[in-house]
Amino acid sequence: MFVFYRVSTMRIITARTFLLVGAFLLVLYLCKDFSDHKTGHLYLDVRENDSKIRQTTTNNSYVYSWPNCQQNMSAANITDFNKLPGHIQDFLYYQHCRHFPMLLDIPDKCGGADRSAEVFLLLVIKSSPVNYDRREVLRKTWAKERLHNGIWIRRLFISGTMDSGYEKKRLNKLLELEQREYNDILQWDFSDSFYNLTLKQILFLEWMERNCPKARFLLNGDDDVFANTDNMVEYLKGLMDNDGSKHLFTGQLIENTKPVRWSQSKYFIPVQVQESESYPPYCGGGGFLLSGYTALVIYNMSLSSTIHPIDDAYMGMCLAKAGLAPASHIGVKTLGLDVPSSKVDGYDPCYYKDMLLVHRFLPAHMYLMWHSIHDPHLKCGLEKQLV
Ligand SMILES: *[C@@H]1O[C@H](CO)[C@@H](O)[C@H](O)[C@H]1NC(C)=O
Ligand SMILES: *[C@@H]1O[C@H](CO)[C@@H](O)[C@H](O)[C@H]1NC(C)=O
Ligand SMILES: *[C@@H]1O[C@H](CO)[C@@H](O)[C@H](O)[C@H]1NC(C)=O
Ligand SMILES: *[C@@H]1O[C@H](CO)[C@@H](O)[C@H](O)[C@H]1NC(C)=O
Ligand SMILES: *[C@@H]1O[C@H](CO)[C@@H](O)[C@H](O)[C@H]1NC(C)=O
Ligand SMILES: *[C@@H]1O[C@H](CO)[C@@H](O)[C@H](O)[C@H]1NC(C)=O
Repeated sequence: MFVFYRVSTMRIITARTFLLVGAFLLVLYLCKDFSDHKTGHLYLDVRENDSKIRQTTTNNSYVYSWPNCQQNMSAANITDFNKLPGHIQDFLYYQHCRHFPMLLDIPDKCGGADRSAEVFLLLVIKSSPVNYDRREVLRKTWAKERLHNGIWIRRLFISGTMDSGYEKKRLNKLLELEQREYNDILQWDFSDSFYNLTLKQILFLEWMERNCPKARFLLNGDDDVFANTDNMVEYLKGLMDNDGSKHLFTGQLIENTKPVRWSQSKYFIPVQVQESESYPPYCGGGGFLLSGYTALVIYNMSLSSTIHPIDDAYMGMCLAKAGLAPASHIGVKTLGLDVPSSKVDGYDPCYYKDMLLVHRFLPAHMYLMWHSIHDPHLKCGLEKQLV
């Protein structure tokens, strides 16, 4: 279940990769001094006083209500509608719905819209209500809110609702309790299903434009990835000409793909949902990094783009519409990690120390790995770096 590395592809990794990696590390190293200097003023602002942007109040009166979005009955007129799987029919009935009441909000998460520039990295983690154990371990590990080398990392889980009746109430109550303790959840009253992930992303972007428009960078990802947020901050600080106000969208680049037409697949997209036989390039939705600027551009584009249920592909569509391209980062492995052979330990921390993000981790492994890579006694040979 938790073995996600593929052994064979490792053999393809050659000296070229190591050269690339070496060059990358060198650039990082060379950038460091410069970037420290460049962002100096940002440090001071942020360091001044922690309590200024800590979310001290929990005024949830900023929860709005929207009229219930009505089912689009005409969707049933689409050719062969009755032959489509239930969840696709459901998607088509509600595809036009973009506003849902907020159940949990944190309008001052970023210290207010104006001060939101003090948030250097905002972690935006898609999490369904039931994933309590994943949220708990992330709060203690890579998603811990902290000042890292003078720069603020903030955390948000984005969620919908699940089930109905008592069970829905119970799960909402759980999130409410977590919110009371951690103040890190945005929740809207829509069904948190796989085909509603794009809706979730759009609702977040809308929230961001209102409450956190100046955040420098965002990590957008799943709650079952291992993210080395310390490395992310170093990488983002090392970007010479981008303080978040220019385009950045990077992760595991996925190109030349087309909609899955096999109806049994989790990713099934019938022609009734998308006719086009290709997707623009995008980054795997397990986790990608983007600038605040690019997040707002995507939001703008989404306003005039019909919702497509595959959320990461939809991001690619919005980027393409804006004339922007996603990029590839060697440290992001949303398809899992390649280890040299099945005889070696796929959870050797040396493989993860230099990564930015790897899918997929169970909570216990996450907890162990985060501690292992921070162990000052950890010794890794060159051959175990950045596989
Ligand atoms: C931060 O500001 C708060 C109130 O604005 C003040 O009570 C606190 O002492 C300050 N802390 C530091 C470390 O300056
Ligand atoms: C919360 O915010 C609303 C609107 O901004 C305001 O009217 C209300 O008094 C606030 N409540 C608290 C408890 O601060
Ligand atoms: C489509 O569905 C609506 C509502 O069910 C119906 O009134 C209409 O006649 C159907 N046909 C077309 C072409 O819209
Ligand atoms: C309802 O569905 C029909 C058929 O797909 C579509 O043409 C129409 O634009 C939809 N209406 C709304 C409000 O989305
Ligand atoms: C998305 O959420 C809405 C609101 O809860 C729901 O009506 C709809 O069925 C959901 N769509 C899918 C595909 O799950
Ligand atoms: C998004 O659109 C709004 C309104 O059209 C505009 O003011 C804003 O500059 C746009 N933002 C970006 C980042 O393109």
